[in-house]
Amino acid sequence: MTDLTVYLTQDDVARALRSDVLTGLTATPKTLPPKWFYDARGSELFERITRLPEYYPTRAEREVLADRADEIATLTGAHTLVELGSGSSEKTRLLLDALRRNASLREIVALDVSDAALSASVAVLREAYAPATVHGVVGDFTRHLALLPGDVPRLVAFLGGTIGNLVPAERAKFLTALRDNLQVGEWLLLGTDLVKDPATLVAAYDDAQGVTAEFNRNVLHVLNRELSADFDTSSFAHVARWNEQEEWIEMHLRATRDMEVHIRELDLTVPFAAGEELHTEISAKFRPARVSAELAEAGFELAKWWTDRQGRFGVSLARAVA
Ligand code: AVJ
Repeated sequence: MTDLTVYLTQDDVARALRSDVLTGLTATPKTLPPKWFYDARGSELFERITRLPEYYPTRAEREVLADRADEIATLTGAHTLVELGSGSSEKTRLLLDALRRNASLREIVALDVSDAALSASVAVLREAYAPATVHGVVGDFTRHLALLPGDVPRLVAFLGGTIGNLVPAERAKFLTALRDNLQVGEWLLLGTDLVKDPATLVAAYDDAQGVTAEFNRNVLHVLNRELSADFDTSSFAHVARWNEQEEWIEMHLRATRDMEVHIRELDLTVPFAAGEELHTEISAKFRPARVSAELAEAGFELAKWWTDRQGRFGVSLARAVA
């Protein structure tokens, strides 16, 4: 962990968890942000989700990137790939391999909130893409986009549909901050899951094997460990539903009985009534017109729009404009 740039210390992360939990569990309705799913077990569960038959987004996005990576490399001529989120994913490697074939790759920037995950991926990337320079930045993509390193033009990849975890106002803020930290002519590659029939969407977030249910409940395990809480995780049922108005999937944890939960480190007792729902995630689904409108509003011009052959998932290549 010798040479990461740290915008966010693990102390800051611990403080943010306490603050989010205090705010979220004393609110009505109760809520927790999805970023707290991802401890080591949560990341492992998410990896399993990406391989589930019902969870098509990962495969659909990979199909697009496999088909288009060389076109993306040629069109952007990027010298730097900036990956928001984990930097060692198979999808990132499709882009890096294409940039290397295009002989434009000079630098790689990986930004992640977890220093452990980041040091591991930085090491892998250095080995695989030498002589490219690899920068690991410990930070939160909603807060630490300033001073992103790398040789211009950079290609910022924000994949997987993670932008769907943000509500529209947060997306606008994020995209505008990103645009403000890029120069005219630099690039954003954005993955967005698309609106489709509700049964397909709900199945993707409520799989038959119950992996997503375990992933959802994992946030309670995180609170038990990190904040000495005493959630009886087996008394919370996984709920995934399609919100037709907002066009997003919502995940909740529904208390199956009356409970009092103690969060020792916060000196907080939280009552749950039987049937009460704790809201844990939104995953917004997009129509193509909304993607280009939100990009344009933030100062990006859509250069290319691709979907997988079944039209389930969209990938936008957009350019920062004046
Ligand atoms: C990692 C945020 C893209 O929203 O589909 C998967 C997380 N949640 N199953 C998504 C998730 C439930 C995933 N993202």
